[in-house]
Amino acid sequence: MSLRRNRPAAAPRRRAAATPGEMPIRPVKRTDLDQVVAIDATVTGLEKRRYWERVFRRYGAAGPREQRHFLVALSEGRVVGFIIGEVRDWEFGSPPCGWVFAIDIDPAARQAGVGTKLLAAICDRFRRAGVDKLRTLLARDNTLILSFFRAQGMMAGPLIPLEMDLR
Ligand SMILES: CC(C)(COP(=O)(O)OP(=O)(O)OC[C@H]1O[C@@H](n2cnc3c(N)ncnc32)[C@H](O)[C@@H]1OP(=O)(O)O)[C@@H](O)C(=O)NCCC(=O)NCCS
Repeated sequence: MSLRRNRPAAAPRRRAAATPGEMPIRPVKRTDLDQVVAIDATVTGLEKRRYWERVFRRYGAAGPREQRHFLVALSEGRVVGFIIGEVRDWEFGSPPCGWVFAIDIDPAARQAGVGTKLLAAICDRFRRAGVDKLRTLLARDNTLILSFFRAQGMMAGPLIPLEMDLR
């Protein structure tokens, strides 16, 4: 997952134009990419079109559908959020499990259940692929995404992230 700094969402609760119950969620299309790039740029302050083209090729266009997922949530025909994940087999000594690498909701559509609905949709796909565990990584100081994942029932897992400087 992209490890981003937290952008606290202090705005009062707003409802997305469509209620989550009727919000379509489907695999990303190439024509959604501009909106995905725009949401990410709004959240991170960086426009990374070439990065998103690569992500689209890897998770959106190609790849076995049961392993890789790049889903978007729509409201009035516009992308208001997306989630990306993949089933990874036997890595880190673990049986196949579903990993979420990225989730981003348009700030104007937050706190209306869109993130919950996207996570539920990718979990359904992971279950259909036969896995029974969901994992993710998040930046230590990203309290927003930590609150979100905790609200979904996620807790500290058995893996420890390690890193070192290469230069
Ligand atoms: C985190 C994020 C995905 C949540 O999406 P969302 O659609 O607003 O989430 P939901 O409306 O489904 O909220 C579900 C639960 O998450 C928690 N939550 C969501 N926003 C919160 C906030 N601002 N503060 C505290 N808890 C929050 C709540 O427990 C909420 O349940 P509740 O509505 O019953 O209180 C969204 O804020 C976002 O895209 N953040 C920025 C992107 C980011 O940092 N991504 C991580 C790196 S990939």
